[in-house]
Amino acid sequence: MKAEDGITILKIGGSVITDKSADDGAAKHDEIERIATEISGFDGRLIIVHGAGSFGHPQAKRYALTEKFDAKGAIITHNSVKNLNRFVINSLNKAGVNAVPVHPLGNTVCENGRIVQMFIEGIRIMLENGFVPVLHGDVVMDTVLGISILSGDQIVPYLAMQLGAERIGIGSAKDGVLDNDGKTVEAITSSNFRDIEKYIGASENTDVTGGMLGKVDELLKLCETSSITSYIFNAAKNGNVSKFLNGDDIGTAITNTGT
Ligand code: IPE
Repeated sequence: MKAEDGITILKIGGSVITDKSADDGAAKHDEIERIATEISGFDGRLIIVHGAGSFGHPQAKRYALTEKFDAKGAIITHNSVKNLNRFVINSLNKAGVNAVPVHPLGNTVCENGRIVQMFIEGIRIMLENGFVPVLHGDVVMDTVLGISILSGDQIVPYLAMQLGAERIGIGSAKDGVLDNDGKTVEAITSSNFRDIEKYIGASENTDVTGGMLGKVDELLKLCETSSITSYIFNAAKNGNVSKFLNGDDIGTAITNTGT
């Protein structure tokens, strides 16, 4: 790895590494291990953000955390996602990746659900020293609401802007964004988004943070304020994480080029 290498940010969706239809944390350990092995073949500066899946959405819903403050519910939800993070970190370490946990609860403040502050310096030094910081969707402190649910989908573009990331990949359980016929949309820009928006389905399982539409929305905002193109691709397919990390443009590109 060279110090001048650009930063890659990879999100692994909760639907890829957990059974998202379960009412309580059900991890897909084989998938976590497979993805960890694919990641171990990459030699650049990398940040991983993972979703919560059944380790966060059902708990947040049970305690209605998007509607009202509930300290106990917040702790239960955070501890649950932290368990999933431990599985991810352990598999990455076992595969030879120097992954370290960064829990947003401890370094991020939101205002009405939007990040207003994150302690980035630690992440910067981790990257300089060859560590792979692993963040995740979490419960965080909120200046207005007390606590809010922060999706990994918001963390990814925030970090990309703050750190000037070069490549962004959102690994989901679908072949990118699908059109009406179930075919992958090649590129989404702010000009074709309105047409495509109506095909973007809601999540089949409990999702308190906006599902696929939420992802596209965050990434469109990112490319409106930067020239960073992101790719939403299927991380549940063997080899796709490696392909993305090796520079292949797979899935749906969210971009402002050509507009
Ligand atoms: C959700 O994070 C966080 C909690 C519910 C605590 P994400 O929005 O990143 O999770 P996935 O990818 O949809 O599972």
